[in-house]
Amino acid sequence: MNMAEIDVERIRKDFPILKVQMNGKELAYLDSAATSQKPRQVISKIGKFYKTYNANIHRGLYKISEEATEEYIKSKDVCAKFIHAGKSNQIIYVKNTTEAINLVALSWGDANIGEGDRILISKMEHHSNIVPWQMLAKRKKAVLDYIEITEGMQLDILDYKKKLERKPKLVALTHASNVLGTINDAKNLTRLAHEAEALVLIDGAQSTPHIPINLREIDCDFFAFSSHKMLGPSGIGVLYAKEEMLEAMNPLFGGGDMIRSVDLQESTWNDLPWKFEAGTQNIEGAIGFGAAVKYLKKLGMESVHSHEKKLTKYALKRVGEMGYVKVYGPGIEHIDQRLGVISFAIKGVHPHDAAAVFDSEGIAIRSGHHCAMPLMRGVLGEPALCRMSFYIYNKEEEIDRAIVAIEKARKMFSRG
Ligand code: ALA
Repeated sequence: MNMAEIDVERIRKDFPILKVQMNGKELAYLDSAATSQKPRQVISKIGKFYKTYNANIHRGLYKISEEATEEYIKSKDVCAKFIHAGKSNQIIYVKNTTEAINLVALSWGDANIGEGDRILISKMEHHSNIVPWQMLAKRKKAVLDYIEITEGMQLDILDYKKKLERKPKLVALTHASNVLGTINDAKNLTRLAHEAEALVLIDGAQSTPHIPINLREIDCDFFAFSSHKMLGPSGIGVLYAKEEMLEAMNPLFGGGDMIRSVDLQESTWNDLPWKFEAGTQNIEGAIGFGAAVKYLKKLGMESVHSHEKKLTKYALKRVGEMGYVKVYGPGIEHIDQRLGVISFAIKGVHPHDAAAVFDSEGIAIRSGHHCAMPLMRGVLGEPALCRMSFYIYNKEEEIDRAIVAIEKARKMFSRG
């Protein structure tokens, strides 16, 4: 296990955007939960593809097409190993986590969910792990159940066990909350669901970029994540599924490359994973994604997590000292079970006003409902919050700057 400490100054040199000025100040990018920045290794890998071997894959019997195909396949191998998936034919490339979850809802869901069946999700889900199940439940007259959240901002395990007694056919849960930062124990949650004979989908969009993932241990049936949150390009993500699930599922899209043969009225499907990848794929995206995964692998995910834990601890401590800032998420005592995602409210200051102050200070944060309205409105009672989120290229000085921005926003706007 590589547990070398992250050399943040060396890493920062790999990210050209960090030299950019925003509003005349050095950019402090504290919005990696929305999307991450990209290292030169990823940028140049994509550039090299366009400059030296741009061609379609699986189609050309010529050198550069073979090279493109080889690199595309290699990226799947790298990705499969990164999450301990077993085989690379279990890696389906899709546009993003949202598309991966929709693929399961439409393909597996339409074939397996019927009237009165139950689907169990939680109140800390992102819209991408709510809306596809609502749509499926409406199509099939099925029931969507929600697991409650404790005051400590964790999944309520007692409530989970109670809802499992209602025998859901599928449990779909986030591995880590994009609002609270809470990391859920995916292995234990999956075990409990399997004992109740439910299948399990884990939304790994926020976890995969930040903590080691071992799908052989977690043993979930489906797992989804996106490249753009883990140093790779946008427009490419992964649906992992157990082989027997993928074999049994129908493809969602028909077209080129996903078939074995086509007759006038009937077609047969290609082998996995190609059965689910119709038409020309995001080839440069896949190749860039492979480079991003290699970059993270070289750092070691234990080291990535450890670096972010240090930053999170520091930020929680600094923010905790400000009497007028309220943080929504597990406290510092649960540092091992949370990500570097800190959602907060400044008393008397609207989050959009605060974000504007951060912007004027050259600091990028997110403000709003964070695509998690049931959590924000229904559980936290906050229509909007500010959120800072950290990655490998962030440093304590940037958190110090954020603290100054909070003080400034409070002085400028607070009426409370
Ligand atoms: N899901 C992303 C976020 O939380 C976009 O910001």
